[in-house]
Amino acid sequence: MENFTFKNPTKIIFGRGTETSIGTEIKGYADKVLFCYGGGSIKKSGLYEKVVKALKENNIEFVELSGIKPNPRLSLVREGIKLCRENNIKFILAVGGGSVVDTGKAISVGVPYAKDVWNFYIGKRIVKEALPTAVILTIPATGSESSNSSVITNEDGWLKKGLSSEYIRPLFSIMNPELTFTLPAYQTACGAADIMAHVMERYFTNVKYVDFTDRLCEATLKTIINNVKIVLEEPENYDARAEIMWAGTIAHNDLLSTGRIGDWASHKIEHELSAIYDIAHGAGLAIIIPAWMKYVYKHDINRFVQFAVRVWNVELSFNSYEEIALEGIRRLTEFFKEIGLPTTLKEGNIGYDRFEEMADKCTTSDTRAVGQFVKIKKQDVLNILELAK
Ligand code: NZQ
Ligand code: ZN
Repeated sequence: MENFTFKNPTKIIFGRGTETSIGTEIKGYADKVLFCYGGGSIKKSGLYEKVVKALKENNIEFVELSGIKPNPRLSLVREGIKLCRENNIKFILAVGGGSVVDTGKAISVGVPYAKDVWNFYIGKRIVKEALPTAVILTIPATGSESSNSSVITNEDGWLKKGLSSEYIRPLFSIMNPELTFTLPAYQTACGAADIMAHVMERYFTNVKYVDFTDRLCEATLKTIINNVKIVLEEPENYDARAEIMWAGTIAHNDLLSTGRIGDWASHKIEHELSAIYDIAHGAGLAIIIPAWMKYVYKHDINRFVQFAVRVWNVELSFNSYEEIALEGIRRLTEFFKEIGLPTTLKEGNIGYDRFEEMADKCTTSDTRAVGQFVKIKKQDVLNILELAK
């Protein structure tokens, strides 16, 4: 096990009806907020009204930033920064999914910084301060409700980049599983794939003897596998929605990273897909992860056997370790298919003509590689995209 420091300061307020406490929770921190939300799902569900009521009851003024799109854009971040400065706002309230939360986090670092906020995303500048951000989460997926990351797309060049900083973990996140009842089946499935990806990126590690976190990872994966099928049949099953929602936070709040070195190549490659083709992040991962696995499994076949046996109940009666490992990958792929996700570029309506561009863009770091389990260079990205066809 590697040395580690673990600190996740985000307060989680979980359960039925908890969104009504948003006013009292903010009071004491701010009397004016930037209220960020997406394309209208919170108006349809009635959540918008509830938030407005709770803010008004507590005399908290608000300015709205609406219309945040999935794969959120830099231009709206800049608009939010401007609104905060013009209205002297020092607190961000994000109500929605990862795209809304990530926009809120980007604004929170941009307001106190005099230059261009994009500098943080291209590594030109390190975050030294941020406004506090509060979240009401409406889709379990990204873990952004307590993660240290924000992912934003710059329309100029369609560059999708992530910023990681301890300054941007939300102050608190309100999580009511009832708010996820209205999720379309496809978004539910995309969220599940993203949660599983966050676990798998951590699971496939070269660090030896990480038994405890291996088992936490396996439990988190099994929780998602067992409960997604239930909510796809019964969208208003509170208990199953609650299991998924809490597992989604644990998958990405860094508890499962303790003592391990994660991989993250699949995320880096997927971000190129969703930047160019605007596909949902979870769907992109359902395409890339099986291809990545087929490409790298020989690097540590025992780990893939463990994954197959413990997560997918693959029987040891197969002829070889290789067959067991491949059966685990096959069952993962089948699972993604069963819940309605694409598992190939073709199924995701993604053409094959921009592989070079994507492979170039995702290997621009100093090492010219992504991933830790196996270092993936430009040619490897091209090979993985070929396998994903
Ligand atoms: O915009 P509205 O109308 O609200 O609709 C949204 C959106 O169309 C809808 N939705 C959300 N909650 C709903 C709902 N519809 C009905 N009922 C509800 N309760 O779902 C759609 C997708 O929303 P979005 O916020 O884009 O989804 P998600 O949470 O999956 O966020 C994806 C973004 O987060 C990034 C991804 O790359 C992508 O840009 N990620 C952020 C991470 C982080 N900050 O830690 C880590 C992840 O790996 C990921 O990269
Ligand atoms: Zn993700």
